[in-house]
Amino acid sequence: MKKVYNIAIDGPAGAGKSTIARSVAEKLNFVYVDTGAMYRAMALHFLRNGIPADDEVAISKSAGEVNVTITYENGMQQVILNGENVSGLIRTGEVSAMASAASVYMSVRNKLVELQKNLALKENVIMDGRDIGTCVLPEADLKIYLTASSLVRAKRRYEELRAKGEECSLNDIEKDIIERDYRDMNRENSPLKQAEDAVLVDSSSMTVPQVVDRILALFQERKTEG
Ligand code: DC
Repeated sequence: MKKVYNIAIDGPAGAGKSTIARSVAEKLNFVYVDTGAMYRAMALHFLRNGIPADDEVAISKSAGEVNVTITYENGMQQVILNGENVSGLIRTGEVSAMASAASVYMSVRNKLVELQKNLALKENVIMDGRDIGTCVLPEADLKIYLTASSLVRAKRRYEELRAKGEECSLNDIEKDIIERDYRDMNRENSPLKQAEDAVLVDSSSMTVPQVVDRILALFQERKTEG
């Protein structure tokens, strides 16, 4: 059977995981899997149905009924919620907060982790999230823990929003980022942490191409060793 390669990228919100993973995927001709989008699609479903984040019973029941899948259009991941393409609706502050709050429950995680594991069995993938190296792909060929200071991450987000013409405050953005990190790192189930065998990459003073090149070099090393 042909060897399938898996690369795992974990790290806190705003570290640049998706930009970097997408670029590495393009260069290696791998499939990019954004697992955060799956948690966001579920979160959108809970919000639409008025299910409060602290009602574990209702969240678990709803998670059992909902259907989240992904497809690709021109190489771009699309996330499908009960047959509807919701990719354009999941990048709001409200959805981010609900995704972080609802992802603490095993009922939510188990369902999505199974889908993610299955995707990685069939093809060469680079997958990003919070628990990829520790839980979803513990046997990944390369694991990266990508981080940057909260201020650098907040500044990047601020620039993005300003470029879209949105009014925002750097302070508020950094506060949200710190809150989300705290919850993602301190939850009981699959908290965000660096896997023992992951390579730490701090992108605070690196450009995107520098980080991409570093990951490509690490992957080539692993391939040659393996
Ligand atoms: O990567 P993101 O910002 O799109 O993720 C949204 C939320 O989903 C994040 O705050 C925590 C949760 N998440 C998770 O628990 N596990 C993952 N593998 C990916 C995301």
